[in-house]
Amino acid sequence: MASTMSHPSPIVLGIETSCDDTACAIVDGQGRVLSSVVSSQLKVHQPFGGVVPEIASREHLSNWPAVSAEAQATAGLPLAAIDVVAATRGPGLIGCLLVGLSVGRALAFSLGRSFHGVHHLEGHLYSPFLQVDGEPALTVPESFVGLVVSGGHTSLLAVEGEVVRSLVETRDDAMGEVFDKVGKRLGLSYPQGPEVDLLAETGVVSREAPFAVPKVKNDRQGAELFFSYSGLKTEAIRQIEALERRGVLTDDRPSTCAGDWPAPVRNLMAGFRHAAVAQLIDRLDRQRRRRPFEVLAVSGGAAANRLLRRQLTSWAVDRGVHLFLVPLKYSGDNAAMIAFAALLRERRGVRGDALDTVVASRIPFAKSCV
Ligand code: KG4
Ligand code: ZN
Repeated sequence: MASTMSHPSPIVLGIETSCDDTACAIVDGQGRVLSSVVSSQLKVHQPFGGVVPEIASREHLSNWPAVSAEAQATAGLPLAAIDVVAATRGPGLIGCLLVGLSVGRALAFSLGRSFHGVHHLEGHLYSPFLQVDGEPALTVPESFVGLVVSGGHTSLLAVEGEVVRSLVETRDDAMGEVFDKVGKRLGLSYPQGPEVDLLAETGVVSREAPFAVPKVKNDRQGAELFFSYSGLKTEAIRQIEALERRGVLTDDRPSTCAGDWPAPVRNLMAGFRHAAVAQLIDRLDRQRRRRPFEVLAVSGGAAANRLLRRQLTSWAVDRGVHLFLVPLKYSGDNAAMIAFAALLRERRGVRGDALDTVVASRIPFAKSCV
């Protein structure tokens, strides 16, 4: 191992370029984040209301030198001190993945180091055990349930050592995705999820016209449990359109949550957000009735949602569940989670080969157990 005296080995350099963030991080052998740099392409994509894949790959290429230099400078480590290199291999935008994976493979090959192509979901799954302020990572329990809520995934996963099984998946949209789509219909600027969340903070949930949580017919052991968010999205958009017809919402509207939004819109967003979180809690309770679990680790971009954090915290206290909620710093896409996932693999004795990894825009992660 080439790591310096002051940091426990192995030193892992992580790369994440699956979508519109160019990220590089360095994590030490105790899962301490020595640096985590995320260069956002927000401004470049904002005029288009969403990520433009071709522009995103080009941005990764031009951002990479500065991002990696900053990660090394902050950690105070030269490239020669890196023992292991890891990059996201999918799922994501293929051109974007290719940039990060190619850079990572070349780096590992030239240094003669172990290389891991990490599944994006694997990165999120273990991120709740990362700590901020240079603290070592928390011990990852041998057995736990992981909830990943992001723009691409709404997945409940059972982890038993190295084996990850899928418990509940979304049948249609992901939770973060519907926040984005509903916010876009409202005219909020990209990424709309955090804006909708803030707007919802200023509204009240109506008891008269609540949004429904999709019913699970035949809820018995062995029957499929699922998430579904497209109905909630359609209903929210239908109600936005009704407010437009009534003249409550005019064409003259702010593009951020900070503007002067009419109360019915704020209340609508509060009701929408409430139902989105209620569905997570409903499925967690159903899953616990089927198979009780004591540890829940929650991650992904939408795990930054304020209501989700409040409600899951009290849910866990009420049920006696030990909750690991991803630190806000690592909820959205970052490279520290990719480096940490690779560190966990190394601890299990898995060594990766730089020449042996390819990218894929869609790849399964967990085995399904339904
Ligand atoms: O994990 P992430 O950065 O990228 C993916 O892997 O998808 O998650 C991004 C998603 C977006 O859909 C974004 O709108 C959503 O997370 N998000 C939120 C909040 N912050 C980010 N959704 C709801 N409430 C938030 N506060
Ligand atoms: Zn993600």
